Amino acid sequence: MATTTWTRRHVISLADFVPSEYDTVLQTAASFREVLSRRVKKVPTLQGQVVANLFFEPSTRTRNSFELAAKRLSADTLSFAQATSSLTKGETILDTAITYLAMGTNIMVIRHKEAGVPQAIANEMDRLQSQVSVLNAGDGQHEHPSQALLDLFTISSALDPDRPRLELLKDKKIAIVGDILHSRVARSNIWSLMGSGAEVHLAGPPTLLPLLFADYGKHRPGKLFLHWDLEPALQDADFVMTLRLQKERMSQHLLPSLREYHQLFGITRDRIQLCKPDVKVLHPGPVNRGVEISSDLMDDPQFSLISQQVTSGVAVRMALLYLIGGGKA
Ligand code: NCD
Repeated sequence: MATTTWTRRHVISLADFVPSEYDTVLQTAASFREVLSRRVKKVPTLQGQVVANLFFEPSTRTRNSFELAAKRLSADTLSFAQATSSLTKGETILDTAITYLAMGTNIMVIRHKEAGVPQAIANEMDRLQSQVSVLNAGDGQHEHPSQALLDLFTISSALDPDRPRLELLKDKKIAIVGDILHSRVARSNIWSLMGSGAEVHLAGPPTLLPLLFADYGKHRPGKLFLHWDLEPALQDADFVMTLRLQKERMSQHLLPSLREYHQLFGITRDRIQLCKPDVKVLHPGPVNRGVEISSDLMDDPQFSLISQQVTSGVAVRMALLYLIGGGKA
């Protein structure tokens, strides 16, 4: 297990993460990946602790991944579904969180369609002088730290399966393609990838990649480039991360048609010929098959790391729960 001291109580954003924290997460996740390869895939680390999954927005991967991670650490889990909760009777989100606190919850995992909700709940938990930790599982267009950490684990494990670590990404060319504007996954990934010293190339149509992104990740070891066409981003790339068109967050018509988008920015077998021969493709899911990535490429294990991302997610979330839960190995 990682030896570095971990002092963070909440994980809301990666903006202020330092290299030793990334490496602690990667090293701890690698230990849990080993646990998950055993016949009995469970450890008593968080026995007696309560992890509440408060998902105020739909989710398949993140929600189940956190739930399984908590169960593998032997925590008791509570889950919440907005439609069947007291929110429908007018209870506020903070009162909902206080209810979970009163039941003895130790860790709250929170997803919400508005940016800032996990931070607001963390502030309230601190104000009440509770010891509760809050993990942001995706808030609006703001951040999705556990996704970027599992992406970092997947990429660094592809480079060195035995010892995933931040320095492996230094100078690697990583393209992030698609709906950057609405993507919390892209924002968290920019922090972590720029922190690793990678070359990060953002590509998308101008309506989905505004110039303000040029300032993102400044004062970090990595280099950031913006492209309004795909080819320069793909040229000699080591990794390509493609993103879903977040139609639920688009308030205007930002694209002529999905067909045109696929023609210009869809990742296909032909297009990845521009990349390094051993390029790997990632997508956080859920995928619009045939829009941001072609169906055959998505299913091709030679190039696609999409299933590994989902598998890595459980080990990385175990690591986060362990680190903020102060678990003893
Ligand atoms: C992402 C999310 O919810 O932000 N998905 C995920 O957590 N795996 C990306 C998306 O919804 O497109």
